[in-house]
Amino acid sequence: MYQYNQIDQTLVDERVEQFRDQTRRFLKGELPEDEFSALRLMNGLYIQRQAPMLRVAVPYGLLSSTQMRKLAHVARTYDRGYGHFTTRTNIQFNWPELAAVPDILAELAQVQMHAIQTSGNCIRNTTTDPYAGVAENELEDPRPYCEIIRQWSTLHPEFAYLPRKFKIAVTGATEDRAASQVHDIGLQMVQNADGEIGFEVLVGGGLGRTPIIGKSIRKFLPKQHLLSYLDAILRVYNLKGRRDNKYKARIKILVEALGPDEFRRLVEEEWAHIRDGELTLTDAEIARAKSFFTLPDYDANAANADAHASLGDSLATDIEFNAWYRHNTLAHRVDGYRIAIVSLKPYLEAPGDITDSQMDAVADLADRYSFGETRATHHQNLVLTDVREGDLYAVWQALAANNLARSNIGTLTDMIVCPGFDFCSLANARTLNISDQINEHFDDMDHLYDLGEIRLNMSGCINACAHHHVADIGILGVDKKGEDWYQISLGGSSKEDARLGKILGRSVPASDVALTVEKILAVYVDQRRENESFAQVVLRVGIKPFKERVYATAH
Ligand code: HEM
Ligand code: SF4
Repeated sequence: MYQYNQIDQTLVDERVEQFRDQTRRFLKGELPEDEFSALRLMNGLYIQRQAPMLRVAVPYGLLSSTQMRKLAHVARTYDRGYGHFTTRTNIQFNWPELAAVPDILAELAQVQMHAIQTSGNCIRNTTTDPYAGVAENELEDPRPYCEIIRQWSTLHPEFAYLPRKFKIAVTGATEDRAASQVHDIGLQMVQNADGEIGFEVLVGGGLGRTPIIGKSIRKFLPKQHLLSYLDAILRVYNLKGRRDNKYKARIKILVEALGPDEFRRLVEEEWAHIRDGELTLTDAEIARAKSFFTLPDYDANAANADAHASLGDSLATDIEFNAWYRHNTLAHRVDGYRIAIVSLKPYLEAPGDITDSQMDAVADLADRYSFGETRATHHQNLVLTDVREGDLYAVWQALAANNLARSNIGTLTDMIVCPGFDFCSLANARTLNISDQINEHFDDMDHLYDLGEIRLNMSGCINACAHHHVADIGILGVDKKGEDWYQISLGGSSKEDARLGKILGRSVPASDVALTVEKILAVYVDQRRENESFAQVVLRVGIKPFKERVYATAH
C-alpha cells in the first residue's frame, strides 16, 4: 500500500494542528458556528442526530493492520466501542466528543490516516474492486491508478469547491465490483485492438434523488492521459455545473441537460489544451505508483498436499466451516490461496458495524494470515485477500469466536443498510429495526442458500446512501405523516449490467416489510427455472407477477 513520504506526513500533521486551533476557538466562542461548520466539514466532521460524526478516509478501501488497530483504539478510547463501514469503504464514528476530535485526528495521522475530503463539494475517496490484485478476471490492478488519482485530487486548489461532491470509481476486472456505473466518473480498464490497456470513461452516474446510470464518453483512454482527461472533465463540470440548486448540481444533471455527445465535445475541447502538458503520466510515474502495490511474498509451497488434505478434512468434518468456505471464500489467482470475506452482517447487528475488539481480531488475522492487510468493500464487509488454504480453518475459527463468521455473503441477509433515523439527521425512516426484522424472519440459512444470490439494500431516505436503486430488492424508507413506510423496488444492479430497479407499487408499513419480502421471494421460487437467479427471473418475467402477489387483496 502507499506509504506517506515526509511531505505527505507534514501536510497531514499540520492539518491536525490547524483543526485543533479552529476547534479550540469555536469552543471558546471565538469562531462563529457557521464558520466552524465549513471548517469541520473539511475534516469529515458532521453534526448528526446523536453527536458529531467523524468520517475517516480509507483510500480505495485498503487498510494495514496497524491502521485497523488504530481504528479499534479510536473506537474504544473516544467513541462507544464501534465504528461503521460505509458504501464508500470509509469508516464512520458516531459518538466522538467534539473537543476530542483533534486528538483523534492526531492519532490517525500517526498511522497515515485522515478525514480530509470525506465531506464537502470536492473529490471524495476513490473506490475500487476489493479484490484488486488478486481477482482472477482482472486486466490489471487498478489500485495504482486510484493512488495516482488520490494524489492529484487531494487538496487540489481548482477542485476544492465544485458545484457538488464528486465520486470516482476504478475497476480493472471484467466483473464490476466497484459499482463504477453509478459514480460521477467510472473508469473501467479495457484493452484495445493493439493489446494496450487503458480506460473506458463513464460520466454522470449517481444515485440519490435522481438516480442515473453513467454514460460512456470515451471508449479508450491511454493511461498516460488519465489525469489530463479527468482534469478536463472536472473543469467542464466546475464551470458549467449548476450552483443555484443543490438538487441539480451533480455532474449527472449536467450530462443529462447537455446530452452525452455535447458533454463529450466540451471535454475533448478542454482536453485538447492540456492533453500533452504537465499532467501527462510518464512510465516512471506509473511504475512508482505500482511499486506500492507489488505482490506479497506468496508461499510457493501453499498448495502442498498436506494443506490440501487438512482443508479437505476440515470441510468434511465441520459443516459450519464448510458453509463458510462455500459462501465466504473465493478463488484466488495464486494456487493454494483463497480470498476470505469477513461478514460485517452478524445476526441482529447493524450492517457494517464493527466493534473495537473485532477490529483488533481482524488486524491480528491480517498480520498472521494475510500479509498485514485488509480491504473494506462497498457491500460493508471486510476482506482478507491472501489466505493460504491450509490456514482457512484457523481463520474461520478466530472469526467465529469474534462473531465475524456468519456464512451469509451474497445472500439476503448480506444487506447494505444505511444507519437511518437512529443516527442520521437526514433520515425519513428507521432502517436498523427493519434489517433486524428481516434477519428474524429469514433466519434459516438453508432457505437463504436455496434462494441464492440476492442483493437487498435499504436506505432511510432519498439520498440513497445504501444504493437501494441498484439492488435486486431495494427498500427506501419514507415518512408518511410521522410514520415509517417503505417503498420497494426490484431488479436493480450495480455490476457490469448496471440498471435501476423498478418501484413495485405503494409503500408498505414497517410491520410488513419482511412479509412483503417473503411474498416477493415466493414468486421467485415459483417462477424460477433451473439455476436461474433472482435477478434473472426479475429480468425475464418483469415486476408484474411480484406486484400482483404483494398487492393481492386477501380473500
Ligand atoms: C450519517 C451521515 C450521512 C449524511 C449526512 C449523508 C448525506 C448524504 C447526502 C446528502 C447524499 C445525497 C447527495 C446527493 O445526491 O448529491 C448522500 C448520498 C450518498 N451517501 Fe450519504 N450520508 C451519510 C451517511 C452515509 C453512509 C453511512 C453511507 C454508506 C453506508 C453513505 C454513502 C453515500 C452514498 C454511496 C451516496 C450515494 C449517492 C450518490 O452519490 O450518487 N452516506 N449522502
Ligand atoms: S440514505 Fe438518508 S438516512 Fe440513510 S444515511 Fe444517507 S442521508 Fe442518512
